[in-house]
Amino acid sequence: MVAQRKFFVIGNWKMNVDKSRIDSIVKFMSAASLDSDTEAVVGCPSCYLSYARQQLPSNIGVAAQNCYKVARGNFSGEISPAMIQDCGCEWVILGHPERRTVFSEPDELISEKVAHAQQAGMKIVACVCETKEDREAGRTQEVLAAQMASLAEGISDWSRVVVAFEALWASNTGVLATPDQVQEALQQLRQWLHHNVSRQAADTTRIIYAGSVSSTNCQELARLPDLDGFLVGSAALKPDIVDIINSRSSYVAKLVNLFSNLETSPLGI
Ligand code: 13P
Repeated sequence: MVAQRKFFVIGNWKMNVDKSRIDSIVKFMSAASLDSDTEAVVGCPSCYLSYARQQLPSNIGVAAQNCYKVARGNFSGEISPAMIQDCGCEWVILGHPERRTVFSEPDELISEKVAHAQQAGMKIVACVCETKEDREAGRTQEVLAAQMASLAEGISDWSRVVVAFEALWASNTGVLATPDQVQEALQQLRQWLHHNVSRQAADTTRIIYAGSVSSTNCQELARLPDLDGFLVGSAALKPDIVDIINSRSSYVAKLVNLFSNLETSPLGI
């Protein structure tokens, strides 16, 4: 039997918040009714980790957006998993596409960070991505497999990892990935887990999608069989994040409604 995977939505604030912006996000997230069947997390700049943790209700997790590969030392500008935990947070995003592309982080470094974060007991959102060039050259599967193989070297406990796939070409470019394109990539990632880690890891690891997820497209994507949630950028700064957190339950509610209407009027009369 295929294991139930709890829907997971992480709103990544990137470098787009200050205390007053955090206050306003906390206000609308706290006031909203969030689906308890979705695990909701925010990705917060390191200087505001403690602040965000203090302000947000406990049902919303807080993630750092990066960390280094050792606990302490002379590494100016870096933070460690131990420091993130000391701020009261249990999640970290590693290998984010912006770390890979803007800051040229290589697979090997990301894998070392993942290994250390796992040893430190953190929960990890481990990211893989494809560029426009990758897609146009038809090498999506190959590129994702190479990134997964490198990440996997650092992972011993997949139950504390969420895999995030980002279609970089569909992030703030005005181009949207179709549900079929998203499903195809997520299915390939799940098959990769099956063939290279275990059936158990493939069945239970949550795989989420990133790339201009909004309140407009989230419900259509939420029905995809291999999709277990979203990594959200721009929409995470707006009340739209609430709709995205609730997208799976809204889709299920729509289905239930549809079936109950069919039952009362089987011929649609
Ligand atoms: P957008 O949702 O703005 O495309 O950002 C995706 C992303 O990189 C989330 O971390």
